[in-house]
Parts: sequence; structure tokens; C-alpha cells
Amino acid sequence: MSTRLTPVLSKFWDDPQSWTLATYEANEGYQGLRAALGKDPAALVDMAKGSGLRGRGGAGFPTGMKWGFLPPPDGGPRYLVVNADESEPGTCKDIPLLMAAPQFLIEGMIITSYAIGCHHAFIYLRGETVHVYRRLLRAVEEARAAGYLGQNILGSGFDLEITVHAGAGAYICGEETALLDSLEGRRGQPRLKPPFPAVAGLYARPTVVNNVESIASIPPILLHGADWFADMGTEKSTGFGLFSLSGHVTRPGQYEAPLGITLRELLDMAGGMRGGRKLKFWTPGGSSTPIFTDAHLDVPLDFESVAAEGSMLGTRALQIFDETTSVVRAVSRWTDFYAHESCGKCTPCREGTYWLKQVMNRLEQGMGQPGDIEKLLDICDNILGRAFCALGDGATSPITSAIQYFREEFEQGMHTPWHELFPPERSTLF
Ligand code: NAI
Repeated sequence: MSTRLTPVLSKFWDDPQSWTLATYEANEGYQGLRAALGKDPAALVDMAKGSGLRGRGGAGFPTGMKWGFLPPPDGGPRYLVVNADESEPGTCKDIPLLMAAPQFLIEGMIITSYAIGCHHAFIYLRGETVHVYRRLLRAVEEARAAGYLGQNILGSGFDLEITVHAGAGAYICGEETALLDSLEGRRGQPRLKPPFPAVAGLYARPTVVNNVESIASIPPILLHGADWFADMGTEKSTGFGLFSLSGHVTRPGQYEAPLGITLRELLDMAGGMRGGRKLKFWTPGGSSTPIFTDAHLDVPLDFESVAAEGSMLGTRALQIFDETTSVVRAVSRWTDFYAHESCGKCTPCREGTYWLKQVMNRLEQGMGQPGDIEKLLDICDNILGRAFCALGDGATSPITSAIQYFREEFEQGMHTPWHELFPPERSTLF
């Protein structure tokens, strides 16, 4: 059995009091901050760059480089906004991390704020996750009471406040500029980029928007060094990450491992396919990334290798489906999701996802019409690269890739409903 796990952020999740400050401090917590406050902020940005850490929210943009994009200080405020609006179907890493060990994020936010000269940082959280909201409020309260937040942190002269903001539950608010609009009190819809948030973000001020896991990875990097992090993973996809396994797997959950690990290795650690069944298809990084099949079991899960095989590493949300699953039905559910969550701002996504849903739903019911597969591909072609933000592109990925690998199932959808092809009593998912 493979032992390629690298528990750093997940090291003490099994501790019954894992979320408390006391447990965090007993596990090297806030030692990274103590080391950081004695350093020149620019050296911290260099350290983030040197670690090779790439955004863990899905896009993989180099974190240190993003911090480095901020214009020189002009005396006005600059902000750090943590994107905790995790909503990508299958993605379940940030919320478990926030529930189990929220101080990683708080400490990471203080270090990052010090590095970029921010004195008011925000966490934008999914509104539905009230339990996480409470946990975060408590974590911020504990950190403040211990002198890690507020005025003159640890006698350094550095001041920082953190505001936890709960959104209202819209997938589009995970898109960084829609998130900023929502945080400002407006309806969350994406803004035109450029300007990127680094130049004009929250309240039109320079803003760093980073994912929870990216910022939570900063304290260990500070403590152990950029080289320690860069030595894990692959040359261009350094470090470790939380891989979330869900679906037809024996032990679903979060597995923290170096980037470049394979699904075969992860499945081995997760007890294999549930019921000993055969793997049919899977997503490497949530439903917005093109699906893979059992032919991709040995693809290293790093940004470059996954892209070379035609998909994206995304959020490392590995949704596993066995042979009893109708791919048309699974993709149809994701398509419903995108049509529901499209914010309506741009025509290709608003109209396109609506039409994709109509066609997918009828293929699922065995009521497809001649030319439907070509119609799907044509609509996807008209969305891809033409939508205002990544939501539209994401909606096309499962459809085009599923047609690529399982075209015959879409053809069967012309005349046979999914439940006759994959009787529910045999299925382990639906
Ligand atoms: P993007 O590639 O446009 O941007 C990534 C980050 O880099 C952003 O913060 C952006 O501001 C920054 N950036 C890029 N170019 C820049 C430049 N020239 N100057 C300054 N900053 C720059 O990707 P986007 O649209 O932010 O995210 C798409 C990804 O989000 C997808 O790959 C998907 O995997 C992921 N995603 C994650 C979800 C989740 O629940 N975590 C939900 C949906 C999608």
C-alpha cells in the first residue's frame, strides 16, 4: 500500500479538539507568524514565490507572483480577501479544513497581510455553511484574545482586523470579481478583467484574492522554508495539496499528498473502488474539468500532466464513478447545476446553459432527437471562450469530454432512458 501521504494541514484533524487555538499552538501554530514578523515584507513575498506555491482554488496561478502584482503602496488601503465560497461540484477540501483546523487560515492571513501591507482582511464564506461561519467567528475571536489580531500584533507594530462575511449561496460568487461585488453589497456578477483585483479589487483598491487552502499553506512554508515545500510535488507543481475523493470509493475523504500523485495511488489508500466494482469515469478537479476514464489512472495529478491529457487539475475534487453509472445522467445533473447557477450577465452562458440543459435532459430520458449530439457540441463550441467568466467554459467540459469517451451512451439516449440502460437497483449512486 502506498504511503505517499504528506499530512501537514490535515496533521491533527483527528484530534477531538483540533479546531481550538490550544491544539493549533501545540502543533507549531503561530510559529510561522513569529518568524514572519521579524522579516522584511518583501522577503515574505519572495519566499512565497520561491516555494512555487500555485493557487489551490483551481486555476493554479502562482501565489507569490499574484502578491507581487500589487502596485507600490500609495498610502491608501489594500486588501486581502480569502475566497471560501467553495462550490465546485465535488469540491470538499476548504470546508473540512476550516472545520478541522481554522487557525491555519487565520495565521496564513496575518502573514500574508503583513507581506502585502494589508490592515483589513476578509473571509468570504458560503452562506449556507452556518456551522463553518460559527467556527470561523470563534477562531478569529480566539486569535484576537491571544494577541494575534488587532493592534500591535505580538508587539510588532503591525495591525490587522479580519472580517468574516457569509454570502447568500451562489456559485458565481466564487468567481473572484463577482465575490468582490457581493462583498461590496451588490448583486454578485463577474467584472471585466483586466483590471485584475491586484490593481483594482475591493472598493477599487489593490486586492489579493486567494483560496483558503493557498493561504493556509503559508504558515508551514514560513516555518519550514520555501525549499521544503518546493522539494515536494513536481518541478512546476510544487508542494502538497488536499485531494478530495468522493463517489464510488471505499473510504471517501480528504487525502493530503504531494502534487503529482496518481488516482491509482490515491484509490489504493482509499480502499479501492466500492464493492470491488470497475472504475468507469472520474473528474480530476470537479465537474468543470473534462472527465477522465480508467485509461487515466496513472496520470500524475499535477497541473502540467493533467493538462497534457486534455483536462485540468482544478480543485483536485476526484469524483469517482463506477460501471453502474449512466454518464449521460451524471453529466445531465451537472448541466442542470450550471444552468441554475449561470448569473445571466452574458448571453453565451445564460442562453447556452439553458439549451444544454434541455438537450441533456431529453437524452437522459431516452427522448433525444437526431442531431442532438452535434447540437450539444455546437452549443459548447459557442460558449467556450466566449463567456464572460469561467462558469460557461466549465459547463461545456463534462459534456464534450463525455461525448469524446462515451459517445455510444449519448446515441442510446435517442431511444432508451437511462434507467433502462442502468437500472437504479444495480446502481450504487443514484
Ligand atoms: P484565472 O486563470 O482567470 O485567474 C486565476 C487568478 O490569477 C485570479 O486570482 C486572477 O486575478 C489572477 N490573475 C490571472 N492573470 C493575472 C494577471 N495578468 N495579473 C494579475 N492577476 C492575474 O482563473 P479564474 O477564473 O479566477 O478561476 C478559474 C478556476 O476556478 C477554474 O480553473 C476552476 O478550477 C476553479 N473553480 C473553483 C471553484 C471552487 O469551488 N474552488 C468553483 C469553480 C471554478
